[in-house]
Amino acid sequence: MSETLANLLQENRRFEPPAALAEAANVKADAYTEADADRLEFWATQARRLDWTKPWDRILDWDNPPFAKWFVGGELNVAYNCLDRHVAAGNGDKVAIHWEGEPGDTRTLTYADLHKLTCQAANALTDLGVRAGDRVAIYLPMIPEAAVAMLACARIGATHSVVFGGFSVDALAGRIQDASAKVVITADGGYRRGKPSALKPTVDEAVAQSPTIEHVLVVRRTGEDVAWSDKDHWWHETVETAGEQHEAQPFDAEHPLFILYTSGTTAKPKGILHTTGGYLTQASYTQHAVFDLKPETDVYWCTADIGWVTGHSYIVYGPLSNGATQVMYEGTPDTPHKGRFWDIVDKYGVTILYTAPTLIRTMMKWGDEFPAAANLSSLRVLGSVGEPINPEAWMWYRKNIGHDNTPVVDTWWQTETGAIMISPLPGVTATKPGSAMRPLPGISADVVDDEGNSVPNGGGGFLVLREPWPSMLRTIWGDDQRFVDTYWSRFQGMYFAGDGAKKDDDGDLWLLGRVDDVMLVSGHNISTTEVESALVSHPSVAEAAVVGATDPTTGQAIVAFTIPRGSVDSEGDAGEALIKELRDHVAKTLGPIAKPRQIMLVPELPKTRSGKIMRRLLRDVAERRSLGDVTTLQDSTVMDLISDGMKSAK
Ligand code: WT7
Repeated sequence: MSETLANLLQENRRFEPPAALAEAANVKADAYTEADADRLEFWATQARRLDWTKPWDRILDWDNPPFAKWFVGGELNVAYNCLDRHVAAGNGDKVAIHWEGEPGDTRTLTYADLHKLTCQAANALTDLGVRAGDRVAIYLPMIPEAAVAMLACARIGATHSVVFGGFSVDALAGRIQDASAKVVITADGGYRRGKPSALKPTVDEAVAQSPTIEHVLVVRRTGEDVAWSDKDHWWHETVETAGEQHEAQPFDAEHPLFILYTSGTTAKPKGILHTTGGYLTQASYTQHAVFDLKPETDVYWCTADIGWVTGHSYIVYGPLSNGATQVMYEGTPDTPHKGRFWDIVDKYGVTILYTAPTLIRTMMKWGDEFPAAANLSSLRVLGSVGEPINPEAWMWYRKNIGHDNTPVVDTWWQTETGAIMISPLPGVTATKPGSAMRPLPGISADVVDDEGNSVPNGGGGFLVLREPWPSMLRTIWGDDQRFVDTYWSRFQGMYFAGDGAKKDDDGDLWLLGRVDDVMLVSGHNISTTEVESALVSHPSVAEAAVVGATDPTTGQAIVAFTIPRGSVDSEGDAGEALIKELRDHVAKTLGPIAKPRQIMLVPELPKTRSGKIMRRLLRDVAERRSLGDVTTLQDSTVMDLISDGMKSAK
């Protein structure tokens, strides 16, 4: 990048923490001072929130960067920390999971229930020959058994590799093979969009290609017929009949806890490896600090799928290590109607909600009447993760979901970072809509220019992490060189996150999307995020995706794909008028340089299964190329709709 990223958007709104929340907050401003004074001691203090069977000799070994070891020599068991210690402390009867199936069936699991099932699953896996260090693939819907399966692996020291239930045979087989997994844990299926959605046939095909798989454990969820082989075992005949006693063995702090594959858009997926002590320390601390979680009174709900890192850290390890009560929901947000999420918040009295900008923008599009129909007064902290959140989506979230007085924490992190890195603290930070604000205590993030020099306030560039952190990835499974090349080679001695960012005049951080998505228009770097936010700030717009398309005069030209809000008339002349208004609106908000060459009104945007906009495909459309790989698309029909619209536009 020849010059810094544009610094166009001005945002002057500020939201102070509510006084009562600030007063009672788990973490206050002194955490920053403490961590600045002695970063390693700060993390040691957070590690002591866990139960260790053997203390560490050294907090951090960074003698051979970028290969870190945290809490060297220490031993602990992750499942013990998530379950046994709460039961031992007399909290066995406390609800761990309020589970809600998509069809409306429910289950309530206490910590004692979860502990018992996990012990049984640990015994069953041991009986199937799984030993510490073996890999187990997990391919399950959002049912409590997903958490149990992960915890059972952790309990016996097997490394789990959760594969998102929406992935194909090839994706599953590739991940099984890369990790040489020995066992797959799956289900007959789960419920999605009002129907059973089968999983077992995909597993059958993947297992046929994967000779390392010895056993398949199958949870019965939908009751649909499944093919059966001699590798298959029903969960209810194996786990639920196994012994209920199981003693958790301690493992080294650096024992591999899980592998999770990042869905790289083109290259082979990377098996991100996380280990035990440092990972749990940071997942647990951030749950406590960023969400201000009070296990006695809060009801927490993270809407992610367990197949993503958000589900690992903030459905399983973060909440359970803190003894939280949480909601887990199986299905889609519009089944049977568009108010389902808000009914769930109302029904369980959810106090802390953690969701993604894509969901928030979808809810904006559906209309304010759906949240308005439910009682959301229990909510006290709202979180966002996964993409930059546009200021207007942030405002909508706070106003319509957070009744205008609930802090919104925009949390930046990655599969690779394992836990939240940059975020407001709800009881400390005066937030700015759209900004992830500051690195958490004990984290050192920065924005640097092309040469790796820290940019001054007001400048933009690349987001980097300057110091190792406890929950950092340890390597890419089986490929240390790729780990070094991908993250540690762009800038000397720093972790390169791949995201563009800017520091505002106060030094607060604004994430600008993946650096591959930055546009170069007439010699100016313009971030797709900023143009998208300008579009979403118009009252007629629910969602927008912006790409740079090759242009003979300007190098790249800005092409925007825009979804109008539900109530907006966008047909014919009204559509033309809206397009003109939006182009002018962007020019007025960001400056004439950012005025889109073209705006398309579209019904949907192409998204990955984790909800990220696939700008690569939109670039193909904008440049009138045939579409590249569409296999990671959530809904493959979307591109036809968009391409048709594009043809009729010119
Ligand atoms: C990428 C990581 C972390 C769990 C889910 C995604 C983007 C994530 C934010 C945020 C701006 C964000 C970044 C990052 N991202 N959170 N709050 N603001 N961008 O995990 O699939 O590994 O994706 O998601 O681009 O690099 P992931």
